[in-house]
Amino acid sequence: MKGYFLALEGPDGSGKSTIAKLLKEKLEEDYKRPTVLTREPGGTKIGEEIRSILLSTDNMEMANRTEALLYAASRAQHVEEKILPLVKENNIVISDRYLVSSLAYQGFSRGLGLKEVMDINLFAINGFYPDRIIFFDLDSNLGLKRKFAQKEGDRLEIAGEDFHKQVYLGYKEAIKKYPAKVKIIDASASIDQVLKSCLEIIKEDLNL
Ligand code: TYD
Repeated sequence: MKGYFLALEGPDGSGKSTIAKLLKEKLEEDYKRPTVLTREPGGTKIGEEIRSILLSTDNMEMANRTEALLYAASRAQHVEEKILPLVKENNIVISDRYLVSSLAYQGFSRGLGLKEVMDINLFAINGFYPDRIIFFDLDSNLGLKRKFAQKEGDRLEIAGEDFHKQVYLGYKEAIKKYPAKVKIIDASASIDQVLKSCLEIIKEDLNL
């Protein structure tokens, strides 16, 4: 048994957290593989504190570079304190978002540049790249509609339709520029179908 680090990526409302929970159930019940779910920003005590700064609607004056560095800081703590030790102990770790989110949101949509944001993130993750990245491909409007049906928007979610259109384009650009380890699935399909597509990818990677 080997550890495995999977990052789920995609726009707000694309179903990543629902699928993450279902994947954990399947992997543990059917394949007896201990699986830990985590998320970004957050995942550790320090990361969750950074998350509340990032998502608070009290912090509308936050500069784009501050935003990018805080996401990267949360990620650095996450890797060192949580993901890396768990993977070393042969767990499967599934993170709801990882560095491609920063490329799409901060690099592209906020306009900081894909390469610039990749550079600060490479520093943050210290070489710890995912074994697999699954991109949940879903039109940004549909995603936001799903989100606002569930709860009020946070600072990023209320950034406007144009911002989220840019996020979607940003994901496409990021994946084109950095295709390593990325597989794309159609996230407009049913939950069952999306789950099946993700499981197929994981099973193939792990020879399950
Ligand atoms: P998320 O936890 O997916 O939101 P929710 O819990 O509401 O589903 O992420 C919070 C927001 O942070 C989301 O709008 C995407 C954004 N984000 C970035 O802008 N850059 C990043 O690097 C990450 C990880 C998230």
